[in-house]
Order: sequence, then structure tokens, then C-alpha cells
Amino acid sequence: MKFDSPAKTNPIDRLKVVGKPTPRIDGPLKTTGTAPYAYERHDVAAGQAYGYVLGAGIAKGRIKSMNLAHANQASGVIGVLSTLDHEPVPLGPSNTANLFGGAEVQHYHQAIALVVAETFEQARAAAHLILVDYEREKGHFDLAELAPAAPLAKDGKGKPKVENFGDFDSAFASAPVSIDAVYTTPDETHAMMEPHATVAAWDGDNVTVWTSNQMIQWGKRDLAKALGIPRENVRLDSPFIGGGFGGKLFIRSDLVVAALAARRFHRPVKVTLQRPLIMNNTTHRPATIQRIQLGAERDGRLTAISHESTSGNLPGGKPESAVSQTQLFYAGANRRTAMRLAELDLPEGNAMRAPGEAPGLMALEIAMDELADKLGMDPVDLRIVNDTQVDPMNPDRPYSYRDLVGCLRRGAEVFGWHERSAQPGTNRQGRWLIGHGMAAGFRNNILTKSAARVRLAADGRVTVETDMTDIGTGSYTIIAQTAAETMGVPLEQVSVELGDSDFPISAGSGGQWGAVNSTAGVYAACVKLREMVAQKLGANGEDIVFADGRVEVDGRSFALGDAASGGELVAEDAIEYGDVDETHQQSTFAAHFVEVAVDAFTGETHLKRMLAVCSAGRILNPVSARSQVIGAMTMGAGAALSEELAVDKRFGFFVNHDLAGYEVPVHADIPHQEVIFLDETDPWSSPMKAKGVGELGLCGVGAAIANAVYNATGVRIRDYPLTLDKYL
Ligand code: MOS
Repeated sequence: MKFDSPAKTNPIDRLKVVGKPTPRIDGPLKTTGTAPYAYERHDVAAGQAYGYVLGAGIAKGRIKSMNLAHANQASGVIGVLSTLDHEPVPLGPSNTANLFGGAEVQHYHQAIALVVAETFEQARAAAHLILVDYEREKGHFDLAELAPAAPLAKDGKGKPKVENFGDFDSAFASAPVSIDAVYTTPDETHAMMEPHATVAAWDGDNVTVWTSNQMIQWGKRDLAKALGIPRENVRLDSPFIGGGFGGKLFIRSDLVVAALAARRFHRPVKVTLQRPLIMNNTTHRPATIQRIQLGAERDGRLTAISHESTSGNLPGGKPESAVSQTQLFYAGANRRTAMRLAELDLPEGNAMRAPGEAPGLMALEIAMDELADKLGMDPVDLRIVNDTQVDPMNPDRPYSYRDLVGCLRRGAEVFGWHERSAQPGTNRQGRWLIGHGMAAGFRNNILTKSAARVRLAADGRVTVETDMTDIGTGSYTIIAQTAAETMGVPLEQVSVELGDSDFPISAGSGGQWGAVNSTAGVYAACVKLREMVAQKLGANGEDIVFADGRVEVDGRSFALGDAASGGELVAEDAIEYGDVDETHQQSTFAAHFVEVAVDAFTGETHLKRMLAVCSAGRILNPVSARSQVIGAMTMGAGAALSEELAVDKRFGFFVNHDLAGYEVPVHADIPHQEVIFLDETDPWSSPMKAKGVGELGLCGVGAAIANAVYNATGVRIRDYPLTLDKYL
């Protein structure tokens, strides 16, 4: 189904099932511990052996030799896969760091060996008997040291990435009010609950991997390349995923070494990356140093906007695109954005939830607060004055739908914003300094092809098959709701099968594009199935009514399953987009409001209230969408107050590489959270008229907290996380 014009009225609009607050259909499997996660796939591939990954003990250099003798002789050991026995595996387009093979060490905890044994404990014990002789080289690990000389990052065509619009320099120089400040964000790690894990088994030249991966077809493509086999010889199965946040967008070393070892030792092999390995072995959100300059008229209208971000990565890696929202978010005639990229020998930087916008808005939205302060203007009003309904660097291109102003107004009203004390440091209750802060949020809505298959059985059951993944987001449920609505059946009559690379290719889970695209693909397949049903019953597709598990045509009524009485009906289709996202800027919007209490003596910061108001098209399921947003707000609280990978600048690794040292918020840190979705549809997004919210909920939260801390204390902190030492 081609989607190239605004969506018209369609079966989804009945909202009998779609849009209803529906508990997860996979909830019982999860709460009873019976959802099969990758490492628990005891049901597949008999005779699984256990692998234990050895990570490199240096950050940069070469392995001169590796003595495997003791490990090979250890109890229960089947064999050891050594990086010295393999060429570096070829990488897919989105991987930078070597996943396995060769003597060169690019980063600390790079996988250099896999011990395979009968039990996990035997593999672990033997891994510690491997003796590695390294030749260490000097590396670069300090972003701040390299930043002043960091070159401009190149775009895909090798051109330096600078975007200019109007004349920033003159406009900034002549602006009556301006600010110019530098903000820093640290390296962060995904810290998902479920570690990366894979069971791999070969059958002749074909390999099947039961794994934990967000993007099944990328994984299939990249694993085939790494193994040097045709794509059709690879099958990935990933029906349940215990969190990803971008850390499982691309294949990682667990998949590669499990598949290599299973081939070499003629046994199914299961591998999980040990928790202390994940922070340095996989990817992370790169630290940024961001300079923002804003110039405005005295009424608050922005006349000059500049945002430059410097981040680091391994040679060949990409910059953190922290400036992208600044090109689009606010009106303003003169703008400049640029990115710089320093070569570092730290582990690979790559996508983590809302890559770009998450750290970018942590800076931009403090800058807006600083500007409001200088203007003596309410920060909500400053954002309203600078709203735009078009792409500001391409004014002929309107937003498909944008109600940021609605978010701001509604949020201010519900939160009681105008009752706050605007003067920083003036609201004290006993030892607590109370502060209120706000920020705006922005994240794009990305459209991408997505396919699905639907089957109708004679008993009326509808089964959906697509390689879409559910990373804890609620994909199973919104897909079931979509099929139920379109086919006119109760939700209980729908089964959903996900995550198998043998199913039709979906959008996958990433960039908050999963919800809108995967459901639109299911909708397309269901529309085709409706046509097949109509044909079977000798009716025109337009005159037929699908409702309550029945079909009505010309005054006659059939059970839906009757159409399949002569055999199952199977329909497959994909949603494909014309140029709707070129003619229209598609984004989602939020306003975040936060109340904090800061201990006047110790600087300890408590969150008291959090509110998010979102403008994100039709909300397919208010329960799962709210869960996405409160999870993201919680992640934003971590980013603001505690999360930071500490870099050892002498030896080049992330020191706090476990969940004790890397501090994510716990229940006690999180107050009452409220989420409001504006009641809207976006007809340009897809026939579903929906958009994603999974990343939007994170965008702007950190700055809202930092702005609340400023309001509480009068101390402006521009360096995340806001730890106690910085309040002095
Ligand atoms: Mo997201 S960082 O694209 O999983």
C-alpha cells in the first residue's frame, strides 16, 4: 500500500480497539517469567554449550601472543575461539569497532576470545586461565583535550557538516540580548535489563541465532557478512527483548562469537555478554561539548541561533548529532549548526535512545532558560513566541502537524507553573530549596517501509506475522489492536508473532519509528485480507462491514471465519511512503515541567513532581504509550542527576562498568509522574495517523531538571550530571 497523501477516514478511525488503554497482551508471559528471552531458549537446539567472552585488557595496541594451553585443559572445556585465529570479521554499515578477529586491539574489552565449555562456570573459570601478552600503544581518551583542534565532521558525501541559513554572525553581533555558553554531557550507557545474548546453531551451511536484537533484517544482513555466507543462510529469531535503547540496533560480539564457535565446535553455543563487559565491549552514547549562542529581540524573538557540538569516536565513527533539532525547533532567520569529531580510542559511540536530540536538548533547553532569564521573560512564553509551523531553514516545507504551543499551555496550566517563584533561590521550606523548571522536547517521526502477513483461519482467528520487535515497548499489543480494529474482531481473536527473520520485513524498533510504521504495515496487510474476504463472499470491498467478528454484506451476515472455510486466507503487504516526509516535516513535541527540592546544606536533589505533555499524533494505546514516556522521563532523570560513564584517561576505559557504579534511577528517586497526550491525529504520518513517543519522552527532561535546580538554588550548572560537587 502506497501512502502519498493525507490519510482519509479508514477503519482505524472507529477506535473500537485502537486508542483504547489496553494492557499488554504479552504481559502474563512476562509477569510469570515464561516469555522466552534469548539466553533462556532451552527449547531450541539440543546440546547447547556455554561460551564466556574474554575482553581485551588494554585500550589500544596489539596482542603479541595468547597462551590457551591452561584454558584448553581446564575441566569441561570444549575449545577456545581465539581472535588470533580469525581475520577481523567484515562489518555492516552501522558498526565501527571490530567485533572479533585479528591481533589489533581498538578498545578496552574488545572480544578477544570465547571459551566454550559444558557449563557457564567452567567456561568462566577457564577464561581466567588465558594468558595474553599485549603490546600497548598510547591512545587518546580525553575529549576535552582534543576538542579545540577537532575537525568538522564530514557528511555522507565527505563534505564538512556545517549548516548556514541567513547571516548568523551579523545577527548575533547586533542582537540586543544574547547568551553564549558551553554545555557538556557525559558518556552514557544503555544499561538495559537484559544483557546481549545469543544461542547459535548450525544445520549444514545454515545458521539460526536466537538472540536479542532490535532490527532483525539489519542483523541478518550483518551477520551473513560477518560469517561470509549468503543472507538466506541466516535466520534470526528475537521474539522477546529485555530492553535495547539502541544498544541492540546492530549486531554485537555475542552474535558473532556464538555463531563462529558453534560452527567450529559443531555444537550449539550460547553466549551472553557478562554485565561487566557490556559498558566497554558494546556501544555508548558519546560525551558532547556544546557551544550555544542565541541572540534575540527584547520581545524574545530569536534572531540568531548557533549550535556547535563536539564529540568523539573511534576512527571511522560518527559524531553525536546533537545539533539536529536546533535546525528545526524554533523560528529564527539566522542560524548555524556544526559538528566536530575527535578521534578517540574509547569504545564505539553509537545510537542510544533519541541519539542527537537527547544530549542536544539537554544543552539547547538550558540555553533557552538562560535567555529567558536575561530577557526577564517567562520561559514558557519565550518558547511560544518562537514557535514555527514550517521548517525554519526551508520555509516552504510545513510541519505535518505541530502543537508545541498546546503542550506548553496545557502543561503550564496543569502544573500550576504561574504560581512558581520566578526569582531563583527564594522558595525555601525548612532545609529544602524548592525549584520549578521546564523545557520543551522535540524528536522526529521517521517513515520507513514496513511489511506484515495476516492469516485468517476458519475459526475466525487472525494471526499477524512480521519481523517487528518488541523491546518492552508494547509492539505486540498495538499490532494486535491494529489487526483487531481493521478486521472487526475482538482483541482476543488476534495472535501476534514477532521477531523472526523468516517473517515479512518490518521497520523494526529504533528511532521511535517502530509504532507508526509497523502498525501501518499491519494495516496494509489487513486491508488486503479484507479484500480477499469480500471476494470470497462475492461482495465489493466497499459495501462490506467488518464488526464484532462478523461480516455484513447486502443485508446478509457471516462469521468472519466463514470466508476461510475452504482454507486459510493469507494476505501480505507493506506500507510504502511517497514523498510525504519530504514535503512535510514530521516531528513530535513535548513540554516537560519539573519540581525539585534541593537540600540547602548538602545539595542533595530530590525530584518532587514531573509532568510531560506530548503532541505526537494519534496515541494507539494510552497505557503502553504512557509507559514509554514515564520510562523515558526516568531515563532523563538519570541523565540529569546521576548517569555518567567515568573515563579513565590514563588507560582508556569506562571505570564504572556495572550497575552498581553506573547509577540509574531507582523507584525511590522517582516522584509522581504525569503524562498528558494531546488529543490529535497527524494525517500525514500514515493511515494510522499516529507517531512515535518512545524517544520523545526523554527529549528535554534533563534540561527541565537542570532549570528547576537553577530556580531552586540560583546556581546554573552547565555540566551534566548535576552532582553535588557542582553546586558549590
Ligand atoms: Mo533507538 S537509539 O534508535 O533504539
